Order: sequence, then C-alpha cells, then structure tokens
Amino acid sequence: KAPYFYFFQNFWCPSISLQGVHNFQKYFQAKDNDVFVASFPKSGTTWLKALTFAIINCQHFESLVNHPLLTSNPHELVPFLEFSLVGDVDEKIVKLSHMTEPRNFATHLPFPSLPTSIKESNIRIIYICRNPFDTFVSGWHFFSIFMSESSHKITIEEAFERFCNGVIGFGPWWSHVLGYWKESITRPNKVLFLKYEDLKEDISFHVKRIADFLGCPFIEEEKGMMESIIKLCSFDKMKDLEVNKFGHHLKIIENKHFFRKGEIGDWVNHFSPSMIEKLSKIIEEKLSGSGLSFKTQSSS
Ligand code: A3P
Repeated sequence: KAPYFYFFQNFWCPSISLQGVHNFQKYFQAKDNDVFVASFPKSGTTWLKALTFAIINCQHFESLVNHPLLTSNPHELVPFLEFSLVGDVDEKIVKLSHMTEPRNFATHLPFPSLPTSIKESNIRIIYICRNPFDTFVSGWHFFSIFMSESSHKITIEEAFERFCNGVIGFGPWWSHVLGYWKESITRPNKVLFLKYEDLKEDISFHVKRIADFLGCPFIEEEKGMMESIIKLCSFDKMKDLEVNKFGHHLKIIENKHFFRKGEIGDWVNHFSPSMIEKLSKIIEEKLSGSGLSFKTQSSS
C-alpha cells in the first residue's frame, strides 16, 4: 500500500502509525531513568539506537562476544513506541512496565506530541538529525522500495515537492528539528541534540558525549570498551551482520534497507541545480535566527 498521511497535531502522521501514536500518547507512563532516541526518519536513527543501547548496557556485555547487537537488529532492541503500541495495548503496556531498567525506547514523534509524562519528567532524550538534502535522498531510496510494489509510484521530483511542502511522515522536517533544537537549548540536561555529520566526523567525541549525558561516563580503563562499541556499531560492521543482511523488522521491512551508503553528501548524485536552489532557500528561511546549521559535504 502507498503510505498516506493525516495532518494531526501540526505534523503529517503516517496512517500506519495513527493508532500507535494515540496509544503511545494515552497509555505510556515514563519512568525517570528511561532513555529515548528521537529523530526525524532517515537521520541516522539505527546508528544512534545501536550506540545508545550498547552504552547503556556496557556493564552487562564486557567482552561484546555475546552482544545482542550481533544477533538482533537495533530496531528490535530499541523499539519505536508509535509503531509497537498497536494490537493488544493493555498487555504491551504491562510488559513495558516490567522491562529491565533503564528502558531504552525510540520515537519519531515531534517534541510537542510526545506523551506528557515524557515532556514533563526528567527522562533523557537523545535526538539525531541530519542535513535535509541527505535526509531527503535517504528517505527517497527507503520509501521507493515500498512504493515499487504499489500502484502509487512517484518520481523523485514529486517526492521532492512534497518534502519542500513539509508533506512527509512526521514532517515538516524543519518543525521537527527546530522543536527538539529549542528544547535542547532550554533543557540541555533533558535533550542532547546530535547531528549525523558530526558523528561521522568524530565518533569517539560523540560517544563520550552520549555516555556523559546518560550519566555513565567512560573512565580511563574503559577506553577499550568504548572503542569496541564504536566498531560494533559502525556502518560496515552492522551492515555485514547476518541479522541485518537477512532479517526483517516488524515483518514488513528487510533489515538490510536500514543500511544503504552511510555517507555525507550523496545528495549531489540526485539533486538538479533547481532542486538545490529551492531547498537551500526554504531551509535558510525556516532555520533563520535559530542558530542551527548543517554540513552538507564531508570535510575529508
Ligand atoms: P543512507 O540512506 O544515506 O545510506 P535511519 O536509521 O534514521 O533510518 O537512517 C538511515 C541512514 O543511516 C541511511 O543513510 C543508512 O545507511 C545510515 N546508517 C545506518 N546505520 C549506520 C551506521 N552504523 N553508521 C552510519 N550510518 C548508518
């Protein structure tokens, strides 16, 4: 089926997550030590989920030999609550309440639409975003896979128009990013705001930042552990694992589709000069005065 969206609470909610969003907002109760990974789709969520999960659980898996990330996709280990809270919600909510703490969840919901217990508590949120050019291209490839089987195929030009109009799952992109950006400025202990490009350029620095933010900093003796986590979560390692080559997520998505190129700047292979001009103007206008900017090319 082609994805379609409802404009709901000021964002474009994919029809497949409408029920899940409702249940998440209504029934989820945050615990103070919960850790959330939040993102706009195709911004590096899979990578951040793996890193966060590995950091939180590093005491339990010192050798990394039997690490859950070797046999489970990060989306299984760190579920999106707006996608999982469907079906028998009562049973699922009870299961969530008995999970080992700290619980680690993910969401694509914009900040204002998070359940009140998340917004008003001190739980920590790690947000990842990515320059809109690469985010669009990554999304285009990902969603083309689903659309290729539907009668609603759209061209990259049509998808681009929709992106520029904000009409994309959980979009507009700029509202999503700015919502978390503003929150990270006013409540830096609650929201850690990361950029995909920065992680690509200095992963050690950012893994330390994440661990510090979560209150479990790596001490000198744990440097080796930190390096192993970085390797385990790297694009090449994750992409090559059996579970990510052949497994499925939520029975509908092949895990391999979460690992494509993993680069900064692939958008140059897809954008025409007029597309560059159009999106640059929109982004400049939408982000103006926010202090937020993005790298669109790798510096190496
Ligand atoms: P590309 O499509 O540009 O390759 P998300 O996880 O939010 O769906 O984002 C997917 C993007 O992150 C894809 O980008 C994917 O290749 C990239 N990605 C996935 N795992 C990664 C990792 N371990 N390191 C770096 N990039 C990764």
